[in-house]
Amino acid sequence: MTTAHRPAPPVRPTRPALDVAALRADFPLLAARVHGRPLVYLDSAATSQKPRAVIEAISRYYEASNANVHRGVYWLSERATAAYEGAREKARAFLNAREAREIIFVRSTTEGINLVASSFGRSALQPGDEVLISAMEHHSNIVPWQLICGERGATLRVIPMNHSGDLLVEEVERRLTQRTKIVALVHVSNSLGTINPVREVVAQAHARGIPVLVDGAQAAPHMPVDVQALDCDFYTVSGHKMFGPTGIGLLYGKAARLEAMPPYQGGGDMIRSVTFAGTTFADIPAKFEAGTPHIAGAIGLGAAIDYLSRLDRGLVADHERDLLAYASARLQEVPGVRLIGTAALKASVISFVLAGVHAHDVGTIVDQEGVAIRTGHHCTQPVMDFFDVPATARASFALYNTREDADALVAALAKVRQVFGG
Ligand SMILES: Cc1ncc(COP(=O)(O)O)c(C=O)c1O
Repeated sequence: MTTAHRPAPPVRPTRPALDVAALRADFPLLAARVHGRPLVYLDSAATSQKPRAVIEAISRYYEASNANVHRGVYWLSERATAAYEGAREKARAFLNAREAREIIFVRSTTEGINLVASSFGRSALQPGDEVLISAMEHHSNIVPWQLICGERGATLRVIPMNHSGDLLVEEVERRLTQRTKIVALVHVSNSLGTINPVREVVAQAHARGIPVLVDGAQAAPHMPVDVQALDCDFYTVSGHKMFGPTGIGLLYGKAARLEAMPPYQGGGDMIRSVTFAGTTFADIPAKFEAGTPHIAGAIGLGAAIDYLSRLDRGLVADHERDLLAYASARLQEVPGVRLIGTAALKASVISFVLAGVHAHDVGTIVDQEGVAIRTGHHCTQPVMDFFDVPATARASFALYNTREDADALVAALAKVRQVFGG
């Protein structure tokens, strides 16, 4: 008897999965135990954990290269300067900026935005002018603009969102006026997870000659950022949210924009010459880096960029998408849970409320189970007002999280419901 020869089904090339266990081993603190239980860290949107490579790069700098930068003619200072400027070049490549001088080291996203609001705002805003932001901004992309608008007699206008947490892109056009001097928009919302159509907004603003600042604090840890493709005028990130140290961040600015802006702070290193009669300023980026910078921080951030660059970012994105879908579905199985922020395009940030329990109580009880989540307004009070909640609980997932972490959160929420008689 002959058997009919059946061709084997085509083999679908499957992508190898991210080796999360190996990644986790890179982050010493993930092995910690809290309250006698393994730590389940779900607050990476507030700050990420740090891989050993970053921790060691900082120690190595202090042990082997510590000296002030740009000032000494001696070997050690030149070595420190090379490491610091090397980190700037890594940052350039990471954001795909055209030139290293378009990268300013700042303290954080907050400082990046304050720099632009103060420097650009002070020189560009006249009474009656407008600054356009969105309804889902972090306070750090609201308050600096309010301050400068107050000072200059300008007005802050807001692009609305809907109750899924999607930006109403069709409203952008209507809010861009002849008086709009800058648009400042968050790339990924920290309280809703929404990924905004930045490229589209930039195109609309540029059609009217209006520059755009993008708050990339929550984007950089999750997705490759290409400032040339986005064509934004400014882009700012915090090192500590992308596996680097605290106290260091990046502000990208198009060279022509930065060159046209006055200094933000005065001091050493940002000058060409000083007399009591007046001062001339250094070229960018030095013009915006007054005083001794956070050298170790920049080097640590460079190590974080190296770490991220060695990963397959496509695999990381697949993994985080899976975590988002899995955790969102599991959380919705918990009676009384309502997700806040269900935009079509989201990063792995999940805000939720639990009926009858304040978010702070949720956070305190799940902590007893070893689960670290954020509770409160997440520095987005207008978002809380819009959704008419005092606060949310927020679980944010990074590349080192697992489905088991989501399971641990769901199990801990069952404890919360027990305590509150749910
Ligand atoms: C979207 C967004 N923008 C800005 C910030 C401010 O970042 P930093 O506190 O590092 O300056 C945060 C921090 O949570 C954020 O999530």
